[in-house]
Amino acid sequence: MEASTFGTNDLEEYLLRHSSAEDSLLYELRRHTHLTNLHPRMLCGPTQGKLLELICFMFKPSRVLEIGTYTGYSAICMAKGLNLGAELHTIEINDEVCDTAKEFFTKAKLDKVITLHQGDALDIIPKIEGDFDLVLIDGDKRQYPQYLKVILPRVRVGGIILADNVLWGGKVLLKQPDDSFTKGVVDFNKMVAENDKLDKVLLPLRDGLSIIRKQFE
Ligand SMILES: C[S@@+](CC[C@H](N)C(=O)[O-])C[C@H]1O[C@@H](n2cnc3c(N)ncnc32)[C@H](O)[C@@H]1O
Repeated sequence: MEASTFGTNDLEEYLLRHSSAEDSLLYELRRHTHLTNLHPRMLCGPTQGKLLELICFMFKPSRVLEIGTYTGYSAICMAKGLNLGAELHTIEINDEVCDTAKEFFTKAKLDKVITLHQGDALDIIPKIEGDFDLVLIDGDKRQYPQYLKVILPRVRVGGIILADNVLWGGKVLLKQPDDSFTKGVVDFNKMVAENDKLDKVLLPLRDGLSIIRKQFE
C-alpha cells in the first residue's frame, strides 16, 4: 500500500494525489493511531491536516488553542505552519492517548512549541493565561456549545475559530435529532449562525469544517 494513501477511500486518495505529500512522521503517526487506537477515524487526516497547516501559514497566529488532541495529528499539522516563537496549547481529556501525542511532538521537534494539557477543556481553558488568535474545536461534540461560550471572550478581535465535524455524518439534517452528540453540534451551528459578531462559512470538507472570524467584541 502506498504510504500517502493508507486508510483512505477513493475520493480521499484523489485529493491526496493532487495535494502536497503527507510527511513521513505524520504518516507514521497516522499508521500508529490506526494500529493501536479504537477510533482512528477521529484523526483529521492528511487533507484536512494540510489545510490546517496552510491556514496557520497564511494567518500567522501567535497563540493557538486546540480542544481535543487525540494522538496529536492536527496539533502537529498546525504547529508546522506557525512562525518561530508562536505557541500552541492543546487539551486532551483521555490520558491513554497523551503518551502517543507527547512522543510524536518530540519526534517532530515541536515539543517546545506545543504544550499538552491533560484534562477537561472546560476546566483547563480558564487556567491558561492570555488570549488566542486561532482556536480549533475538535473535542466532545456534546460540549461544542459550552466550548464556544468559554472561548469566545478569549479569542482576540479578528481571531479565527475552526470547528470540526460540524456536519456530524449528515445527522445535522435530521428534523428531530435524537442523540446528545447531534444536538450538541446542531446547537453549536445555530449559535454560530445567529451570532452577528461572527463572520462564518460552513464547508462540506470531510465531516464539515466551520471557519469563523470574530469581527468585534
Ligand atoms: C476527534 S478527536 C480529536 C482529533 C484530533 N484533533 C486530530 O485531528 O488528530 C476528539 C478528542 O477530544 C477528546 N475530548 C473529548 N472531550 C474532551 C474534553 N472535554 N476536553 C478535552 N478533550 C476532550 C477525546 O478524548 C478525543 O481524543
